[in-house]
Amino acid sequence: MKTIDLRSDTVTLPTQAMREAIYNAELGDDVFAEDPTTNRLEKMAAGIMGKEAAMLVASGTMGNLVCILTHCQRGDEVILGDKSHSFLYEAGGMSALGGIHPHTVVNQPDGTMRLEDIESAIRSDNVHFPRTRLVCLENTHNYCNGSPLTAKYTEKVAALAHRRGLKVHLDGARIFNAAVALGVDVKELAGPVDSMSFCLSKGLAAPVGSVICGSSEFIAEARRNRKVLGGGMRQCGIIAAAGITALEQMVERLKEDHANARRLAEGISQISGLSIDLENIHTNIVYFDLESDQITAEKLMQKLADRSIKILNLGPARLRAVTHYGITTKDIDVTLDALQTIIKKP
Ligand SMILES: Cc1ncc(COP(=O)(O)O)c(C=O)c1O
Repeated sequence: MKTIDLRSDTVTLPTQAMREAIYNAELGDDVFAEDPTTNRLEKMAAGIMGKEAAMLVASGTMGNLVCILTHCQRGDEVILGDKSHSFLYEAGGMSALGGIHPHTVVNQPDGTMRLEDIESAIRSDNVHFPRTRLVCLENTHNYCNGSPLTAKYTEKVAALAHRRGLKVHLDGARIFNAAVALGVDVKELAGPVDSMSFCLSKGLAAPVGSVICGSSEFIAEARRNRKVLGGGMRQCGIIAAAGITALEQMVERLKEDHANARRLAEGISQISGLSIDLENIHTNIVYFDLESDQITAEKLMQKLADRSIKILNLGPARLRAVTHYGITTKDIDVTLDALQTIIKKP
């Protein structure tokens, strides 16, 4: 029986084309900048994002950390959303390894932070305060319903930050989902920021890797910080080869994932015992709640697992399903059928 794994788009497996690209990749030592496949990926990524330079890193977490370490010194402060991935789920790396202070601002349900909230979080020049150095955005916003941030909003934040002498970093782990959902060129979303990261290994289905982009000067400095973190990966053309295939072949199809997410959400809205706000479905991430006194979320997960269906239980009654490459419309219908049956007869 096929496992329908909706826990995350990180569970995607590489395509046949990626496996072939990996097999055939021309390799060298990337720490000497001599891996031709990695060099090609980095040039390609910079071009796609409209930045001067790019660098392959091991993961989204490493990409964000390398960028934050490159923008900030010890004791500096970063303004970021209270529901941002970097604040919630990256093991406090900026403070653990960089001595950098996170200053959270409330994320609105659409993943934005209010401009006035950002502005009032910026510290004045006072010996008591850390120095504010950076504002971080996240697009799409994972915890906030996979919401895409518009280019206009990103421009406004960057204008405010730059006017106050700050830099802007964008966690664009799912930036291509945002571009596809908004129907814009990804350059428009990346254009206003000073640095950005995006993941090859989520909806784009590559097995490993993320890329950071910025000015040539920024990336040169970031290369040093990647080395500090042990991220000099030698023959990483193996990873880059799949990344190139991902960028060439896997972006346009993200709209299938978005259509499947909507189908799933609409089906969930018809099941009594589950509640969902259809206004919150924007890309490939579907949050919903269990509202039944007949079955717990844990039991529901277990019964779904018995049918080889996996969904993320965020507890106590909050659930998340993410659509991705490998999940078909039929899988969505099988999942809806299972949810309906289990909840009806727990
Ligand atoms: C918005 C966002 N940023 C960063 C990351 C981190 O990526 P990785 O798991 O590759 O470290 C994730 C992972 O899910 C994410 O959702």
